[in-house]
Amino acid sequence: MKQHKRTLVTCALPYANGPVHIGHLAGAYIPGDIYVRYLRLRGEDVVFICGSDEHGVPITIKARAQGVSPQDIVDKYHRIMKDAFTGLGINFDIYSRTTSAIHDSNASAFFRKLYDEGKFITKESEQYYDDEAKTFLADRYIMGTCPKCGNPSAYGDQCEKCGSTLSPEELLEPKSALSGAVPRKVKTTHWYLPLDRYEPWLRDWILEQHKEWKTNVYGQVKSWLDGGLQPRAVTRDLDWGVPVPIEGADGKVLYVWFDAPIGYISNTKELCEQRGDDWEKWWKDPETKLVHFIGKDNIVFHCIIFPCMLKAYGGYIVPENVPANEFLNLENDKISTSRNWAIWLHEYLEEFPGKQDVLRYVLTANAPETKDNNFTWKDYQDRNNNELLAIFGNFVNRTLVLTHKYYEGVVPALGELNDTDKAAIAEMNAYPEKIGHLIESYKFREGLAELMNLARLGNKYLTDNEPWKQIKTDPERVKTVMAVSLQIVAHLAVLSEPFLPFSAKKLQQMIGLEVKGWNDAESTVLLPEGHVIGQPELLFEKVDDSVVEAQLKKLDDIKKANELNAWKPAEVKPVVSFDDYMKVDVRVGTVLECQKVPKADKLLQFLIDDGVKQRTIVSGIAKYYTEPEKLVGKQVCFVANFEPRKLKGVVSEGMILSAEDKDGRLVLLTPSDLVTAGCSVG
Ligand code: 2FM
Ligand code: ZN
Repeated sequence: MKQHKRTLVTCALPYANGPVHIGHLAGAYIPGDIYVRYLRLRGEDVVFICGSDEHGVPITIKARAQGVSPQDIVDKYHRIMKDAFTGLGINFDIYSRTTSAIHDSNASAFFRKLYDEGKFITKESEQYYDDEAKTFLADRYIMGTCPKCGNPSAYGDQCEKCGSTLSPEELLEPKSALSGAVPRKVKTTHWYLPLDRYEPWLRDWILEQHKEWKTNVYGQVKSWLDGGLQPRAVTRDLDWGVPVPIEGADGKVLYVWFDAPIGYISNTKELCEQRGDDWEKWWKDPETKLVHFIGKDNIVFHCIIFPCMLKAYGGYIVPENVPANEFLNLENDKISTSRNWAIWLHEYLEEFPGKQDVLRYVLTANAPETKDNNFTWKDYQDRNNNELLAIFGNFVNRTLVLTHKYYEGVVPALGELNDTDKAAIAEMNAYPEKIGHLIESYKFREGLAELMNLARLGNKYLTDNEPWKQIKTDPERVKTVMAVSLQIVAHLAVLSEPFLPFSAKKLQQMIGLEVKGWNDAESTVLLPEGHVIGQPELLFEKVDDSVVEAQLKKLDDIKKANELNAWKPAEVKPVVSFDDYMKVDVRVGTVLECQKVPKADKLLQFLIDDGVKQRTIVSGIAKYYTEPEKLVGKQVCFVANFEPRKLKGVVSEGMILSAEDKDGRLVLLTPSDLVTAGCSVG
């Protein structure tokens, strides 16, 4: 690995149109935080940059739907996200926003320089325009019928029913989502970054010089490059964003994916202004190592488009690595902000106070580092109970409790070491390098697994040496066993910090260990003889079944609500003639008796006055009318010439009409006013 003077770490700027969920965390923010915490412990010069991405069409759509301004939307989510990141211990040096004044001028100046130097090409294209709303329409603002599946409410960029990616031209009967007007094509000019010009450089830089990048990232970049790059528009006709700083470009803004990555630079500038530091050394000195933490949907922007922007500008460094993760699913279903299918960080922090590390642990142990992965509440419970609690927490607790019991909390001398002790110590001493190397290679899952192996080593050492038995027979030996165990506890207290910062801090306080850095763990003795440790407290507590059940119920409710929202009336059946329709004889009858059919959950047995005689009709609505006697005296509609059928031993002479609501509930049809029994319905 090349030697660098300093490291600039960024995490994708999340869109401020919704809160942060576990998919974001597992994809970019937790890995980034582990990496930065480790570098800081290593004493490296590092800044950790993030902020909200506050431009783009989805934000304007949400604002319009809620009848508020886009600024209101981003103000709300910026605050929620900033607080939630802090709550989970993700310590950015700065978490700013792309609506800041500094970003506005920075992004503007960036564009202007490329424009002045002729780095863009302009192209005229035809774009849909809404004459009523007097505005060009972003793809999302055009709705029409999907050419693939016939969904009448597909968007100009995607059909959410069949999942097809669309362009507005493909939509049948396009309409403006703003006014409902039929849009017309109008010519418009935009600025494009000719990515194709940078293709040879990109090939050399990534495909040749960065073969060590993660295979999922390298593979995606290669397939983009092999497919041939096209000029990419960097401006849009929209009224929300950084205005295009050119005369005559009224009504145009920078494309959100042009301004957002510049946000990394703006936020660094803002931070350096606060600190009286020089921002340029972070972005322009080749001795700075730049690492972007992102999810896989951002790969093309961080590995191709943004580097081309930086290259076109000149003088900037490009990323040393982009360790993008794949996606995390939730209970085997794709996480989705619009379907509310997610575990939102701010809600988790409220519902699970003091359990930040459990979430950090589960999301790292399960991180989608090489392929998509799945979060389940059962796995959350298992990993907490069987790993954090049973392995890590249990070892620490046993060691500290015994130290208090035998020595009133005073660390005994290591004394004379036998082969078992020496082997355990040698193994312990290998972990700082092993875990450090894995973190430096962006293998956070494996790094965490090794941390747990250190705790396993401690548990096994303690169990094998049985101090609780030996205390009676060989108390000198127990001193050594406890002293060795305490050193393992202390090593855990240092090495867990990047992964489990809250527990690490608690443990450090408990044992009175002042950690100066990762290197501390390279010495064998961190707790010297005579050092006094504090009272043991539990690091982790059991997650009960009831917690899992409550969370699953919450998700189930969301699923049900989504199904109801997705409800549409059934397709209309094929046309019938008047004569056919007249064959069905629907009448009104008065209910004389009504009761449940024995041994049939769903059936009610009605006795109806049909105007001529009394007839029995059986109907499958028992679930929705649990007090059938209350129906007596009501009038219902029924098919009088329906072929008699035997249901559960009862002959049914007709069919009672009911409406089926979207949740499947059946509701009886009754005339709105009293009529004579036997009269026809038609
Ligand atoms: O995917 C997203 O959430 C984007 N807002 C990420 C932007 S990263 C950067 F370029 F700012
Ligand atoms: Zn479709």
